[in-house]
Amino acid sequence: MIFTVAIDGPAAAGKGTIGRALAARFGFRHLDTGLLYRAVGAKGGDPVAAAEGLVPSDLERDDLRSLAAGQAASKVAVIPEVRAALVDFQRRFARAEGGAVLDGRDIGTVICPEAEVKLYVTASAEVRAHRRWLEVGGDQSLVLAEVRERDARDMGRADAPLRAAADAVVLDTSEMTVEAAVARAIAVVEQTLEGRG
Ligand code: CDP
Repeated sequence: MIFTVAIDGPAAAGKGTIGRALAARFGFRHLDTGLLYRAVGAKGGDPVAAAEGLVPSDLERDDLRSLAAGQAASKVAVIPEVRAALVDFQRRFARAEGGAVLDGRDIGTVICPEAEVKLYVTASAEVRAHRRWLEVGGDQSLVLAEVRERDARDMGRADAPLRAAADAVVLDTSEMTVEAAVARAIAVVEQTLEGRG
């Protein structure tokens, strides 16, 4: 079965948690596409060469989840040649046999517009910054500033800006528990799978 779940949304909205839960529930593979951009940013040097030469071990660095790596990722992510170098890998992952969940910024709009399920997961900037602060610690107002700066860059770029696809189900998790958000996402996927018979 070829079945793609595209999850897009702004920084720290809970895409990864929902993506992992859906993959576990339905036995699909999961790709956190943000990690590709984080790895390109973290490699340093020429970002286009870094994207073209990306290898699986680059995704295993233990510093990729830091705020600095997030900023570096969103800076290299505005470069069209960087994005282009990562398209084929993501498309193959999305349409390989067995079902796939991909989370990112442009999965439902650019990478896989034919995805069977599209979710746009969001929450207020304050709630998202609080969640990220619980993970990374430090100064909470700096984390909020970082989230806002990255949102503005991701939404404002010319190539593949962050936006909800017209046919995406929007999930605002500002006032939802993780369990409730995951349950809602599972229900959307189940409904689509049932509809296919
Ligand atoms: O985990 P978080 O939501 O904070 O970020 P991420 O998903 O790891 O993405 C890091 C950065 O990579 C984003 O701010 C985007 O600039 C970029 N990105 C992108 O442009 N397209 C994607 N499909 C995924 C990430």
